[in-house]
Amino acid sequence: MILLDGKELARQIKEEIKAEVAAILDADQRGPHLAAILVGEDPASETYVSSKERSSREVGIISSVYKFSASVSEKDLLETVDFLNNDPDIDGFIVQLPLPKHIDVDKVISSIHPDKDIDGFHPENMGKLTMGIEGLVPATPAGIMEMLRRYNIETEGKHCVVLGRSNIVGTPVALLMSRKGNPGNATVTLCHSKTKNIKEICQSADILIAAIGQQEFVTADMVKQDAVVIDVGIHRVPTTETKSGYKIVGDVAFDEVSKKCSYITPVPGGVGAMTIVSLLQNTMKAYKNHIQ
Ligand code: GUN
Repeated sequence: MILLDGKELARQIKEEIKAEVAAILDADQRGPHLAAILVGEDPASETYVSSKERSSREVGIISSVYKFSASVSEKDLLETVDFLNNDPDIDGFIVQLPLPKHIDVDKVISSIHPDKDIDGFHPENMGKLTMGIEGLVPATPAGIMEMLRRYNIETEGKHCVVLGRSNIVGTPVALLMSRKGNPGNATVTLCHSKTKNIKEICQSADILIAAIGQQEFVTADMVKQDAVVIDVGIHRVPTTETKSGYKIVGDVAFDEVSKKCSYITPVPGGVGAMTIVSLLQNTMKAYKNHIQ
């Protein structure tokens, strides 16, 4: 079994971006700049946004955060999106999700300029992804594809089973895996909460991508011998094993599944580590398109 070391890959990719940014600044050009809109005090969202800021700083990308209380009006949020859309110094930005219930998330996402939509959530970018047209691809699926690419994992003609149909991970990764390309060209089955015989479908997977949001859902009896297993889950569970009193587990029961598969992503240090660097890669892409 080979561990798909997202942490190490992320380190390498950050070095590549850092060199690219340094060359831009050496040429006396304006540096890339990304922004995030953070609403409320959801701890997971705060963690994501602060690690994005830290990673940006590490590679030399300028990062700004626009913070709002959970009671912000939809109008104020849309005005901020409009401001960032029109700010020539901002190359790309994200609106951290989830948003409070009184805000129409689709309206907010649709109001982001597609060229600055580094999350790749805008319907135009989602449409391009569906059609195989170059655009901004959501960070987690892009990170998974980058991992498969850099580890030279064969995907062509393989049966790829994706668990979960979210707009952020399941649906876009299923599209990317079925699209022409390398990685890609897989035969994809997308499973969700209404799927029957999920265990049997998983057993036929050469590549299993778990993004179902259920702690240790995938057990060894669901996995084919020598399958490639990608775990997108992040769950904080109480434990007496660590000083902090909790540990992070994924959607896959790692200890038993890892004994059976050819490749597997650890949690943490797998897909999660790749997500932030994919966002930085998207920022560089948006920057290059913007500066032209
Ligand atoms: N919430 C959970 N994942 C994400 C993500 O990738 N982007 C944004 N904007 N919000 C999220």
